[in-house]
Amino acid sequence: MDDVKVYKEIIKRLLVHVDNGTVDSAPEAYRQPTSVYTDPTLLAQEKATIFRDEPQLICFSSDLPEKGSFFTYDDLGVPVLLTRDNDGKVNAFLNACTHRAARLKEGCGKTNSLSCPYHAWGFDLKGKLRAVYEEKTFGNIEKSLYDLVRLPVEEKYGMIFAGMHPDVKISIDEILGDMAPVFEMWDLGNTSFVNTHEWKLDTNWKLALDTFCEGYHFLALHKNTLGGISIGNMSVFDTFGPEGRNHRLAFPNESIKRLKDIPEADWSLDIFNDFQLVHFIYPNISLLVSPVSIEFFKLYPGDTPGQHRTIFRSYTRAKDGKGWDGNDPQAHFEFICKVVDEEDYWVSANVMKNLKTGMLQYSTFGRNEPALQNMHKAFLRGIGQTPVEAPLARAGVKVSC
Ligand code: FES
Ligand SMILES: [Fe+2]
Repeated sequence: MDDVKVYKEIIKRLLVHVDNGTVDSAPEAYRQPTSVYTDPTLLAQEKATIFRDEPQLICFSSDLPEKGSFFTYDDLGVPVLLTRDNDGKVNAFLNACTHRAARLKEGCGKTNSLSCPYHAWGFDLKGKLRAVYEEKTFGNIEKSLYDLVRLPVEEKYGMIFAGMHPDVKISIDEILGDMAPVFEMWDLGNTSFVNTHEWKLDTNWKLALDTFCEGYHFLALHKNTLGGISIGNMSVFDTFGPEGRNHRLAFPNESIKRLKDIPEADWSLDIFNDFQLVHFIYPNISLLVSPVSIEFFKLYPGDTPGQHRTIFRSYTRAKDGKGWDGNDPQAHFEFICKVVDEEDYWVSANVMKNLKTGMLQYSTFGRNEPALQNMHKAFLRGIGQTPVEAPLARAGVKVSC
């Protein structure tokens, strides 16, 4: 796929909005009960359905860079161990020895085999039991019954998805739908890990996610950070994947206005600097793709509706420690952490405090926030509910709430 062509199409749509002061919009505002953020029964349903059954984006190919690389993942309470075997193939296992269930590996790194720390049974990178310590004293066992428990996994376009139980079906092409060629073009595995940060916050996981899904707040909440960079309240919105439940938002930077005076034929790859791309991959991933970096956010529910955890991993496309425009990847990582911490997640936590009072029964997503409308309807469908729109307040119309 031609990257400049992809970016030109986005730019042309954005410039129409710049000229008209418009934004890709839903037909109507959408009002939904705030109980979606506070109801413990609904939280339990979300955990039991969408988090248990949906493939999870775990990491990128660069996190398992060579044969013998391993990577552990514990974000959803299921201990997962990824290995890249000697054929270069990625495997996913329960991170548990089949003797008496001890954890096999911590963190990430490189190894030739997997040796259990408890009684030293040895497994190869494909999960086969190869050695039973002091076997003659242990007794005869059929070794083939003791292979590691396999979990579903797929690696494609530099992304690695896994399932949290053996029955999860994974098709990255299905997840990405017609956006797959764009992800293929980006080759997100051809990146380098920069740093990671974790937030544990007293807010609902969907309230935290909401802050990634509209540009309406940019010039208010982010006036001191993104204010001079982004136009704000302007975006193009596309859906992709099953039932269109994933989305991509492109937000224009002020710099896009320069392109009005440059013929399209002269636009080059640097037009990727004139907008920000934010993707939502159902159910809990926010993925920011730019010329210099990949910002990968995984958002998880906590023990109660008012608790949540985000794990942020930052990657750079730079091979020499410098990004495309000379950007320092560590400084970029710190900037993103600061904006999320002091602005987006600050507001998410104070929204949650207000919702806990029970005195605000509805939240409203405007026409200019189509991604939020689409995403929340998908969450309700995911737990088997039909999204029902609460009545919208209109002048002169009494609304019961
Ligand atoms: S639990 Fe792993 S060798 Fe005993
Ligand atoms: Fe924000």
